[in-house]
Amino acid sequence: MEQKKRIMSGMRPTGKLHLGHYMGVISNWINLQNEYDCYFSVADWHALTTGYDKTEQLKENVLNVVIDWLACGIDPKKATIFVQSTIPEIAELNIYLGMVTPQNWVERDPTLKDMAKILKNKEGQNSQIGFGLMGYPVLMSADIMAVNAHYVPVGIDQVAHVELTRDMVRRFNNIYHTDYFIEPQPKLNKCSLLCGVDGAKMGKSFNNDIKISDDEETTQKRIMQCITDRSRARKDDPGHPDKCEVAFKYWQIFGTEDELKNVEEECKAGKRGCADCKRQLAVKVNEYFKDIRDKRKYYENHLEEVKLILDEGTEKSRAISKKVLEDVRNIIGMY
Ligand code: TRP
Ligand code: SF4
Repeated sequence: MEQKKRIMSGMRPTGKLHLGHYMGVISNWINLQNEYDCYFSVADWHALTTGYDKTEQLKENVLNVVIDWLACGIDPKKATIFVQSTIPEIAELNIYLGMVTPQNWVERDPTLKDMAKILKNKEGQNSQIGFGLMGYPVLMSADIMAVNAHYVPVGIDQVAHVELTRDMVRRFNNIYHTDYFIEPQPKLNKCSLLCGVDGAKMGKSFNNDIKISDDEETTQKRIMQCITDRSRARKDDPGHPDKCEVAFKYWQIFGTEDELKNVEEECKAGKRGCADCKRQLAVKVNEYFKDIRDKRKYYENHLEEVKLILDEGTEKSRAISKKVLEDVRNIIGMY
């Protein structure tokens, strides 16, 4: 049997995940886990690059991410889940990669500029870009290369990092006259991006998100904030689904074809008020996530099971990285 190609991806533990994470990233991973040998990492070192002084909730956040993944359907029998900082070989690879990385390669990283801006907003003019933050793209390459992955499923904002990893692989292979590392290819997430209830990118800091872990009431309250057709004044005015900025987009994701047609017709005919429309939408969203939320509660109450899954994932992933680092040490010529 042909060996499955390897996939590696990661997510920062920033807190409980929202429906944007689910629609944009996790649902994609769930499809991939059937076809590929998948490694999914909770990138807690990456969280430190900007949050090194805010670690009170880090442990809790790591567990919450894993619980969200499991609840959504990442299956530990198919995919390997682990926490980045439990694999010291990644840090060691990061050192070797740092040696062969030209300074201007990390400086040209586009997301670094965004992060510097965020830091500045949070901490004012005196904020500094730490050495760790500078090295963020190299660390991500270390994640990917530590399992010598073929593909990296990411959003469009992370493609530049995978390109850098390809450059790093070529450079390493060149310098040490080897073809050991595979040039990983980005695999763009094909799933629909779910915007926040205000129409902007969904994010916890924008206060426009719905969490996977939210209860039905909280979800309903949020859905009622969804922006609709702004040109509509009264509920019997004819509406324009194509101008309904958020609510109709959600319908397109969570409604069946028939429901969608019905909403569209009634809206255009002025037979559907926006408040009612969103109340129905909230029911759909809650139905969609019912099983996931039940499963989430189960894992919340069985943390020992979650930790066991992580232990097994770490063991499997670490065995691979140990072998990679043993080879790398030999290739470089370390003692
Ligand atoms: N940098 C990614 C982000 O901020 C997370 C990440 C860390 C990652 N390591 C990775 C993604 C390895 C893909 C592969 O979203
Ligand atoms: Fe949007 Fe529904 Fe209002 Fe039409 S009735 S504008 S689809 S929320």
